Amino acid sequence: AAALGGVGAGALGARAASARDGGTGAAGTSGASGEQDEVGRSQVPFHGEHQAGITTAPQAFATLVAFDLLPGVDRDGLIRLMRVWTDDIARLTSGLAGLADTEPELATVPAHLTVTVGYGPAVFTAAGLEAARPSWLGPLPPFGIDRLQASWSEGDLVLQVCAEDQVSVAHAVRLLTKEARTFTTVRWVQHGFRRSVGSTPTGTTMRNLMGQVDGTRNVDHTTPAGRALVWIGPTTGGAGEAEAADGARWLAGGTSMVVRRIAIDLDTWDELDRAGREAAVGRRLYDGAPLTGVREHDEPDLEAEDELGLPVIDTFAHIRRARTDDATQAFLRRAYNYDVPPPPGRLSDSGLVFIAFQADPAHQFVPVQQRLDELDLLNRWTTPIGSAVFAVPGGCRRGEYLGQALFG
Ligand code: HEM
Repeated sequence: AAALGGVGAGALGARAASARDGGTGAAGTSGASGEQDEVGRSQVPFHGEHQAGITTAPQAFATLVAFDLLPGVDRDGLIRLMRVWTDDIARLTSGLAGLADTEPELATVPAHLTVTVGYGPAVFTAAGLEAARPSWLGPLPPFGIDRLQASWSEGDLVLQVCAEDQVSVAHAVRLLTKEARTFTTVRWVQHGFRRSVGSTPTGTTMRNLMGQVDGTRNVDHTTPAGRALVWIGPTTGGAGEAEAADGARWLAGGTSMVVRRIAIDLDTWDELDRAGREAAVGRRLYDGAPLTGVREHDEPDLEAEDELGLPVIDTFAHIRRARTDDATQAFLRRAYNYDVPPPPGRLSDSGLVFIAFQADPAHQFVPVQQRLDELDLLNRWTTPIGSAVFAVPGGCRRGEYLGQALFG
């Protein structure tokens, strides 16, 4: 029975892995043991126009590490760090040990590993490249719902490390963090998770810890319109600002990353009945269908009224407040759950590591967050406690290093 179970899990994993990477990264299967480690061996190509880990289908585990630069680190130091990181990210994501890897055996299971590097504002000051800093790079405007803690906010550099295996994530984080220690100190670390490969059919929208189907309506990055929302083009720095566009030309193929740590009060959410929970979002818990529809991806009917003439999807429901007719106010959501030990007197400390990628946060993310700040039924249970914005350089070709268009 154990052997049969193992083969079953392997086959599921293999299907999931090949669907996720389009069949390009997964190695062949030869017998049951080959199938069983298919997910472990699967790889996401590192080199390319864009960094991986953005439009990559979200892996089960993520760790985000934000760093502060040490005083005195300059352009040369940043180039040294980028070269080392680029080399070792390329190695780790293809299942090879890092150059100074003290645990090389852990590197043999890439498990769809991606590492995404981003820059905070201080990188530009340290490198003497202020003119290249995109106009939107800096703290978001304050929102009334924010209860931000410095210990979860901002940062000079960020690494987003994702994989289908948490040991692979931890190993990559450890190696890359060690390599940065002469240039940086760790500012914050956030761990996130989703369902594991094989536990739900491939393509299933994730559920957050409130039990909601979360991620149904997202930017489709496979369409030209979707690509333009996520990626910064070759000649624009976003925002339609000519000056910023010139200075930020190095960001072609890159994007911006907004990280919001949003605490969810599951203890008070428990007090709400099912109808109240569904009304807060405007979608059914069972399958994520809008309250006016039958299937998850049905278009919500915001005009629909019940027999009393009241809107079926509440005026302040999360999906009504989050959407707009302005198609440019959209971003790629790639959120992860978190669940950490509660402080004394509480039963839980959970929430979302809410990650959004967009070409221009000032014109895409901020207006949506502003609307949710004004009114959103979910605000009763959700509180942003951390916030950071990073500029994410484009990908690199073999022989180049990450950020070369900026520092080189
Ligand atoms: C939709 C949950 C925070 C923007 C949704 C949906 C859920 C959800 C369940 C419906 C399914 C879907 O289409 O994905 C949450 C929770 C949050 C949170 C639990 C905090 C803990 C945010 C924030 C933003 C945001 C901070 C942006 C500032 C959106 C957008 C949609 C959405 C744009 C799609 C709306 C549509 O077009 O139908 N969210 N959300 N959410 N959320 Fe959130």
